[in-house]
Amino acid sequence: MRKKIIAANWKMNMTLGETDAFLETFLLEVGDEKRVDIVIAPPFTALARASDRLSRVQNVKLGAQNMHWEKPGAFTGEISASMLRELFVRYVVVGHSERRTLFGETDEIVNKKAKAALEASLEPIVCIGETLSERDGGQVEQVLERQVRGSLAGFGPKELQKTVIAYEPVWAIGTGRTATPAQAQEAHAFIRKMIGAISDAATADKVRIQYGGSVKAANAAQLMGQPDIDGALVGGASLDPRGFVEIIKASIV
Ligand code: PGA
Repeated sequence: MRKKIIAANWKMNMTLGETDAFLETFLLEVGDEKRVDIVIAPPFTALARASDRLSRVQNVKLGAQNMHWEKPGAFTGEISASMLRELFVRYVVVGHSERRTLFGETDEIVNKKAKAALEASLEPIVCIGETLSERDGGQVEQVLERQVRGSLAGFGPKELQKTVIAYEPVWAIGTGRTATPAQAQEAHAFIRKMIGAISDAATADKVRIQYGGSVKAANAAQLMGQPDIDGALVGGASLDPRGFVEIIKASIV
């Protein structure tokens, strides 16, 4: 019932030339695939170029990797929601673990960004996930509950249905170490239960929860086959256009 959503998070990669080359191959290979929602999140510097190229296709949407929660103003180095809207950006990743760990983003900041995104008619992809020491310490549920309650504070059914959650265990990001399908499913089911707890079961049933962390063509099908996994947020493996298409194809079950 929930349409899968596969998103490329290019992180701090891809020049304009590389963006052009990627999109040329990718768009040819992916064709008019519409059975899953497809999102590409380039760095800010490549958004306008990607936007121009994607304006000619229907099935690939543009995402941003971050934004600021304030309206335009004196915030040196930041990008506002309206600037993203102007480029026809549809999704925005907020609270990626690299933002949380390297740039001090708290659940409160993530919440402000996600709210500001929704107010500007952008759909936030809110990232959550435990670290290795939290998993080893048996704190997975505690951490996920805190992140769900904090990052989505004040969200009612209407807001939640426009929000995508990305479960990305920090120990699986860029490490080549993927959560097993069973580990991921267990976390996703818990997150869905928590969404039900802050809203209601019918809403929780509609919210899409992506898995992220070393997703590649070889493991995508098994992960995407789990009942509560509704897509993937793909980092490293999304930089190769053919590999990314393979992941998209593998998610169609
Ligand atoms: P990875 O990154 O696929 O390179 O592990 C995923 C992410 O950080 O979103």
